[in-house]
Amino acid sequence: MNKIITLRSRPQGWPTDETFEFKEAQVESPAEGQIVVRSLYFSVDPYMRGRMNDSKSYIPPYQLGEAIVGGIVGEVTESRSEAYNPGDKVMGYLGWKLYNVVDAAAVRRIDENLAPLSAYLSVIGMTGLTAYFGLMDIGKPKAGETIVVSGAAGAVGSIVGQIAKIQGARVVGIAGSDEKVKLLTDKFGFDAAVNYKTAGDLKAAIAEACPNGVDVYFDNVGGDVTDAVMSLLNDYARIPLCGAISAYNMEEGADLRPSILTKLIKTRSMIKGFVLSDYTDRLEEGAKQLGQWLSEGKLKYEETIIEGFDRIPEAFLELFKGTNVGKMLVKITPDEG
Ligand SMILES: NC(=O)c1ccc[n+]([C@@H]2O[C@H](COP(=O)([O-])OP(=O)(O)OC[C@H]3O[C@@H](n4cnc5c(N)ncnc54)[C@H](OP(=O)(O)O)[C@@H]3O)[C@@H](O)[C@H]2O)c1
Repeated sequence: MNKIITLRSRPQGWPTDETFEFKEAQVESPAEGQIVVRSLYFSVDPYMRGRMNDSKSYIPPYQLGEAIVGGIVGEVTESRSEAYNPGDKVMGYLGWKLYNVVDAAAVRRIDENLAPLSAYLSVIGMTGLTAYFGLMDIGKPKAGETIVVSGAAGAVGSIVGQIAKIQGARVVGIAGSDEKVKLLTDKFGFDAAVNYKTAGDLKAAIAEACPNGVDVYFDNVGGDVTDAVMSLLNDYARIPLCGAISAYNMEEGADLRPSILTKLIKTRSMIKGFVLSDYTDRLEEGAKQLGQWLSEGKLKYEETIIEGFDRIPEAFLELFKGTNVGKMLVKITPDEG
């Protein structure tokens, strides 16, 4: 039997049990040219919250009653395509299902001898590539500059900080617990880190960690954290606007802030929103560079892995509570499916 998680209703504010529906169905037979992919790892990502709204964006909304779609690493269990054999490992944007029956072209082959399977959803996958292109193409860090990263202990943020260190920058991370702050300096090599939940005067705490001001602010969270960093921008600062997770569960019409516009004018800074799909034709370049840094030991990564298909919605919601360190993933146990 197949297990499927669909979008039952569009959440207003935080998703609840009403948002998701668990279904069971027979696994369909593949048609000519199709393969059956058994899911091994599911990526849960903050952007999925946006797709639950019925609003225009860079990617269409999820449809009610349809399986939620996201990054999945899986194993081919049946093939009616010359491109794949049973046992091949693949990655694709597939449904939250134990088994997906898809055209062979819907996935790409991955090699578990080059990197662990989960890494194709984290450090050398979507989040690592987002860090790479957002920082290098928009942030353009230079040696000696100060780079601040919010959401710093997460999947994107932890890689951003390390790439900035490789470029010779001074790196300051902002994260939501003392454990994360310690991890940033001890494991990921950040020069300083601030716990935004306990700092008190957040602007003063970030200022102390950035005695020369802020040249690049890689923003993953928005809201109060971003307000505090913005006041410290140097002239000609660059701000890759990657995400605003603090706003994702706000009711429609809520005041998103931050109140930064005059600061941007005064400092002649550049702020630019981006999504990874802007870089579709350069993904190979990014993956090659990340893979090289990884093999040279210059890049470290963390994953928080929750086990069990039924826990995918829970893992997704934990992203907004900050329980994850590094990339949040759900692993399917061998006895499932
Ligand atoms: N533009 C793109 O193409 C692209 C691609 C991937 C991701 N993104 C965006 O990048 C950001 C990070 O994504 P990710 O996959 O790496 O997730 P992540 O950082 O691994 O996980 C989310 C983290 O956000 C923090 N957080 C949650 N609520 C917060 C709040 N109200 N204020 C401040 N921090 C909060 C939590 O850490 P703390 O404990 O530190 O609070 C949590 O661990 C998200 O905004 C996401 O939408 C954009």
